[in-house]
Amino acid sequence: MGATGINALVGHGGTGPGLLAEGFPQAVHRESPRARPGTRSAARQLMAPHILVAYYSRTGNTKAIAEKIAAALGADLEPIIDHTRRSGPLGYLRSAFEALFHRPADIGPAVHQPAAYDLVIVGTPIWNASVASPVRSYLRRHHPAMPAVAFFCTCGGMGIARTFAQMAKVCGKQPAATLAVREIDMPDVAPAIERFVAEINQAAPRAPIRPVEEVAASHAPQPQR
Ligand SMILES: Cc1cc2nc3c(=O)[nH]c(=O)nc-3n(C[C@H](O)[C@H](O)[C@H](O)COP(=O)(O)O)c2cc1C
Repeated sequence: MGATGINALVGHGGTGPGLLAEGFPQAVHRESPRARPGTRSAARQLMAPHILVAYYSRTGNTKAIAEKIAAALGADLEPIIDHTRRSGPLGYLRSAFEALFHRPADIGPAVHQPAAYDLVIVGTPIWNASVASPVRSYLRRHHPAMPAVAFFCTCGGMGIARTFAQMAKVCGKQPAATLAVREIDMPDVAPAIERFVAEINQAAPRAPIRPVEEVAASHAPQPQR
C-alpha cells in the first residue's frame, strides 16, 4: 500500500453522493430506547443519531475495530453469528471458496433490528478480495431495512476497493464513509478511527439539544377549547 499506510485507506470508496445531500433519511429527532426519560443522558441521546455496528470476525481483528468504532460513536454492537466451522486449513479453504463464489453463509438471527437505526456500520474481514460470506448474508438479509450504511474492513491490504464495491452493490446504497485497516496498522489505528467517526458525524449533523421536557411537551395532547 506504500508509504502512506493506513491514512490512504481511510475514507477509501468515498462518500455516497446521495447521502450527503439528503442526510440520514430517518430524522434523528427521536428518543433513544436506552435513555431513561427526564435524565440528562436522555436529553443528550434524544438528538444523537442512533447507530448500529454490525460485524463478523473470524480471528478477532474486525471485532477489535468494531468495538472501538462503537465506543467512539456510542453505537450498539451486533456480532454476526456464523454457524460454519472455519478453523484450520479446511475452514480457511471453505471461507475462501464461499467468498470467491459469493456463496451464502449460515448465520443466526439478528439481535438488533437495523430498521430501528439511522445508520448501520457494517464491518467485514476481506476474504479472497471479497466481502466475507457471513457479512454478505447479513447484508442480503437486512439491507432493505437499512436507511443508511457505512463500511469498514480489516485485511492484509488486498482487495479493499473491490470489497467495498461488493458491499455497496448488495445494499443498493453507497456508504456514508468507509474505513480499511490493514493488519500491520492494527496497533496504531486510533487516528484512522477518529477520522472515520468524524466523517460519520459530518454526514449526520446533530440537531441542537433541547431539554427532554420541552420535547415531551411538544408531543403532549393539546387541551380542548
Ligand atoms: C479465507 C481468507 C482469505 C483472505 N483473503 C484476503 C485477501 O484477499 N486480501 C487481504 O488483504 N487479506 C485477506 N485475508 C486476511 C484477512 O482479511 C485479515 O486477516 C483480516 O484482518 C481477518 O479479520 P478477522 O480477524 O476479523 O477475521 C484473508 C483471510 C482469510 C481467512
